[in-house]
Amino acid sequence: MKTASASAPGKFVILGEHAVVFGKPAVAVAIDRRFKCTVSKSDRVTINGEENALALHPHILSVLDVHGHPYIEITTESDIPSGSGLGSSAALAASFSFAVRSLLGEPTDSEAVAKEAYEAEYSVQGIGSPMDTSASVHGMGIAVNAPEPENLLWRVERGKNVWDICGLDVPEMTFVIGYTGKKALTGPLVEKVRRYKERNSFAKDIIDEIGTVTLEGMDAIKKGDRVKLGDLMTKDHKLLSILGVSGPELNKLVDAVSDYSYGAKLTGAGGGGSMVALTDEPEKVSKAISSRGGTPITVKTGEPGVRAE
Ligand code: PMV
Repeated sequence: MKTASASAPGKFVILGEHAVVFGKPAVAVAIDRRFKCTVSKSDRVTINGEENALALHPHILSVLDVHGHPYIEITTESDIPSGSGLGSSAALAASFSFAVRSLLGEPTDSEAVAKEAYEAEYSVQGIGSPMDTSASVHGMGIAVNAPEPENLLWRVERGKNVWDICGLDVPEMTFVIGYTGKKALTGPLVEKVRRYKERNSFAKDIIDEIGTVTLEGMDAIKKGDRVKLGDLMTKDHKLLSILGVSGPELNKLVDAVSDYSYGAKLTGAGGGGSMVALTDEPEKVSKAISSRGGTPITVKTGEPGVRAE
């Protein structure tokens, strides 16, 4: 094979971001926005036609490190805004890992790709959980560290932390994402929470509380209880705000949708990026987001994970 292509979806987090970095539970869902990579054998390495571009693409570099730096031409395209809290770098790592493995005739099973994509994310950020990369590889929905693991996909361990990744059926529910337009880097926000937790036992209590809220949320999802899930999402937003990862742009959008949604919260790393609302009135929520300067994205759930194109 001389050329291989793969794509992988972005994701949003219903509950549990940041706390999941410390081994707490989380729920994430793939969205119908994808990152696509095409790779071809070549006599040098290029990215979108540029030579010497690897320093600007550390996720690609990290995956290439594992595969002995083959000479390949790489092209990328994506409709996931970067720095938006929607998992664009995880989708890049997942789709690139799958494409390179296909080209080199190496295994492309989900566990191998998910673990390689997580290593790439971790090596770039220096901190973080395997939630985003696992959600992108598996697609649909995932539950991390559910109390009674059903449909266990794979386990990832690092230091003291263990993450059991399970497939999750999310019942028919309508979510609308609101992108603030403000890009935010995940690594520094995760690091900020880690430092806060290290210095302050109160921050540790907040992280524990996010874990409890997320477990209740997993139960509400199972029962299809939108009212309960929405309340828990709003509560989670408050807890994340206390951790210092919300901001005026996010709070403005979360407030704007409160009359038309069961609940709303920031999603992903925060600091800008995106929020998400659970609603039966997606048009009204979208309008409220637009009127406050955000970009609404209505989410279609049931999106497949990484795949050959
Ligand atoms: O903003 P994103 O899409 O990179 O999501 C980050 C999710 C965190 O829980 C904040 C970090 C992590 O590694 O799980």
